[in-house]
Amino acid sequence: MPAASVIGLQWGDEAKGKLVDLLAPRHDCVVRYQGGANAGHTVVSGSEVYKLHHVPSGILHSQVRNFITPGVVIEPTTLLKELNGLKARGIDPTKNLMISERAHLVMPWHLAEDKLMNAVVAQGGESIGTTLRGIGPCYRDKVGRNFAVRAIDLLQPDLGDRLETIAEAKRQLLRGMGADDLANELSSDQIIAQAKSWATELGSLIGDTTGELLDALDAEQRLLMEGAQGSLLDIDHGTYPFVTSSNSSGVGISGGSGVASCWIRRVIGVAKAYSTRVGGGPFPTELLCETGEKIRKIGNEYGTTTGRPRRCGWFDAVAVRYTVRLGGVDSLALMMMDVLGHFDELKICTAYEIDGKRVDRFPSDAATLRRAKPILETLPGWNEDVTGARKLSDLPDNAIAYLNRVSELVGIPVKIVSVGPDREQTIFVNMEELMSF
Ligand code: IMP
Repeated sequence: MPAASVIGLQWGDEAKGKLVDLLAPRHDCVVRYQGGANAGHTVVSGSEVYKLHHVPSGILHSQVRNFITPGVVIEPTTLLKELNGLKARGIDPTKNLMISERAHLVMPWHLAEDKLMNAVVAQGGESIGTTLRGIGPCYRDKVGRNFAVRAIDLLQPDLGDRLETIAEAKRQLLRGMGADDLANELSSDQIIAQAKSWATELGSLIGDTTGELLDALDAEQRLLMEGAQGSLLDIDHGTYPFVTSSNSSGVGISGGSGVASCWIRRVIGVAKAYSTRVGGGPFPTELLCETGEKIRKIGNEYGTTTGRPRRCGWFDAVAVRYTVRLGGVDSLALMMMDVLGHFDELKICTAYEIDGKRVDRFPSDAATLRRAKPILETLPGWNEDVTGARKLSDLPDNAIAYLNRVSELVGIPVKIVSVGPDREQTIFVNMEELMSF
C-alpha cells in the first residue's frame, strides 16, 4: 500500500502538525524525514497543546508507528526533553517510536558554530537568522563526513575516542575563527559523558528505520510522510541562501526517508491563507504596516521554536504555484482562514513586477526576488467569525470566493480548510476521496 505526504508550501509554520495528527489514524506509520529541532509542530488535543520538534506528529495515536529517518538531524537533549514531556502527560512515546541509526546528531560544537556563523551577513546585507539549533553546521558535517556523528555511533565501543578527536579539531577550528570563548566551552569529558547518557536513554529506540519502512510497504501498510519547514526554505529550490539546510520541499521525501518516490501517491500541500516568514530573506508580499501587525496579532504569529515575531504578508500565488508544481502536490490545505475574517478587503499576489517587467515564474535567486514588486488583486473580505464552520457551506460567500481564487491561481483544488487550532476546526471537502490512493 502506498504513502501520502504532507508538506509546507511557503516558508514553514503552515500548521502541518495539526493535519498530520488528524490524518495519522488513517495510516500505519508516520515518518519525519528531514530537518531537526528547528521545526516546531503544534498539535492541539482538547485543552492539551503539544509542541513537537523531532517527534512525528502521529505520536498521540498509540496504534501508529512513528519514525525519525536518516534525513533528520537530532539534537538529543531536546529530543529527550520532548520524550519526557510526553511521558509526563501520560503518553509513552517509547512504545511507538523508532530513530534511524543513520540519522545525524547535532553536537554541542554545532550549536557553537551556528551561533558564530549566524552573525555573518549573507547576501543583501542580511543575516540568515537561523533558529540557532545547529542545523546548518550538522548537515555541513554530514556532507563533509570526517566530523559527523550518527545515532548508531552512540552504540559503538569507540564512541569516547571518536568524540575526543572531533572535539579537539572543533576547538582548533573555533579558535582559528577567533571564537576562543566558544572553544573553551567544549569540554571533551563533559561531551563524552553526555553522549554516554544519550546512549543509555535513547539506545533502545535506535534501529533500522529504512528496513522497517520497506517491510511496512511490503506488508501493504500505509505511510504518512511529515515534512518540516516549507518548500521555499529548501536548500536547492528555495530562496537560497535564506533557506534551511535540507530538502524541505516535496523533492526531499524519498532521499530523507528511504521510501522511493513511486510510493508517494498523494501529496497534500499546506499553505496559510496569507504568508509568513521567520528569519532573513526576501518576502515580496510582506506587509510592513498596520495590516501586517494585525495579521500577526490575530494569527498569533510568533515562532514555536524561537518565539520570534513572524513577518506577515498577503498570500503569494506565484510562490505557492511554484512549490505546488515542484512538489507534485495534488491537494491544497488552506490554513488559518479564521485569521482573515477580520478584514474589509484582502489581497492576493498574482504575479511580480521585476525591473519593470511582469514575471509569472518564481525567481531562482534571492537578489532578483528582492526586487520583485507584488502585483496584487483585491478581493472582498467576509468580516465574520468562521471558527465555528464545519463544512464548506458554513463559510460566507466571500470566503468561498477567496478559496476558489486561490485554487485557480495555484492550479490545484482546495481539499482541506482550517478555521482554528483545534482538531474539530477543520473542514475536509471529502475525506474518503482524499484518503483513497
Ligand atoms: P535553520 O534551519 O535554523 O538553519 O534556519 C534557516 C532559516 O530557516 C531561518 O530563516 C529560519 O528562521 C528558517 N526556519 C528553520 N526552521 C523553520 C521552521 O520550522 N519554520 C519556519 N522557519 C524555519
